[in-house]
Amino acid sequence: MLDSASKTIFHLIARSRTLKRLASRYGMRKPSSFARRFIAGETVAEALEAAREVEARGMTVTMDLLGESVTSLDKADAATRDYIAVVDAMIASGMERNISLKLTQLGLDVDKAMAVDNFRKILERTEPAGFFVRIDMENSPYVAVTLEIFEMLWRHGHRHIGVVLQSALRRSEQDLQTINARGARVRLVKGAYKEPKAVAYQKKADVDAAYARMLKVLITEGHNPAIATHDPAMIELARQVAREHHVAPDRFEFQMLYGVRRDLQAMLVAAGYRVRVYVPFGREWFPYFMRRLGERPANVMFAIRGIFGERG
Ligand code: FDA
Repeated sequence: MLDSASKTIFHLIARSRTLKRLASRYGMRKPSSFARRFIAGETVAEALEAAREVEARGMTVTMDLLGESVTSLDKADAATRDYIAVVDAMIASGMERNISLKLTQLGLDVDKAMAVDNFRKILERTEPAGFFVRIDMENSPYVAVTLEIFEMLWRHGHRHIGVVLQSALRRSEQDLQTINARGARVRLVKGAYKEPKAVAYQKKADVDAAYARMLKVLITEGHNPAIATHDPAMIELARQVAREHHVAPDRFEFQMLYGVRRDLQAMLVAAGYRVRVYVPFGREWFPYFMRRLGERPANVMFAIRGIFGERG
């Protein structure tokens, strides 16, 4: 994790609409461009090709058509239609049926009821086809409403959906109890957003300690949980807790981001664990990419080399 000030800078950049527009226009023109390390491409076809490569390495995928913070009903409608087209392409491709999406992509900022309607439209297509749909967790102002929408859909019988909990947030351990009691699937992450002290731990050690506590609960009491991290210490802890409690490797999975720690991904596959790779793609890649830069100083150098140094 980067120090707090740098993380703040990258989050401010991530929110800049002008930079986002420019980046979407110029940043991914050629496959070697700097963002391609983390983004599987702009088109569904490119993303499916990347997904096949991941599957060929013995892992599964969750596909994420990037997009968030949509500001109009029209754009939310368009995002919903785009997602349904992705679902159809995945069905046609014969690959495993698993997607991740964000509720602000479906219009949560514009109108909550419409975002729920849009989500239902996607579920109408995914459920008969046997998809699992993960609702990504966004920054803290969206956590309560995201969990509320999840609960409502779960109560209405939508059982092929799951949520994400961020160990950085103070409320998450309580949320974990509630969601576990429902029998729902949780993806555990540390949290990608810069959050205020009132709601989130500020020190990496505290975020990690909360992650470790939640990980233990999930491995021993969770329902097909996802331990989503690239942190070798957390991965080792998960393996240790599973061994101690005789939890078989097929009762949980590790998840990592496309382009991050491929060595660890391969090591876990070789050791007999399930690994799912989060494959993000699409034109709206800029905020996601900025969050990845904000996580690790070395990535900033990588990006700068990508922008200025590709000639030499
Ligand atoms: P930590 O930040 O401590 O990093 C541990 C090590 O991992 C680093 O030392 C480095 O080696 C490597 N690493 C981490 N990030 C890297 C990067 N960007 N580039 C290169 N190496 C890196 N967050 C969220 O708020 N909502 C969500 O819905 C999701 N969804 C999600 C899905 C999946 C599958 C994953 C893996 C992660 C998320 N996240 C997320 C992101 C998550 O909250 C977190 O920001 C990142 O995973 C980085 O934290 P780590 O757990 O890897 O640990």
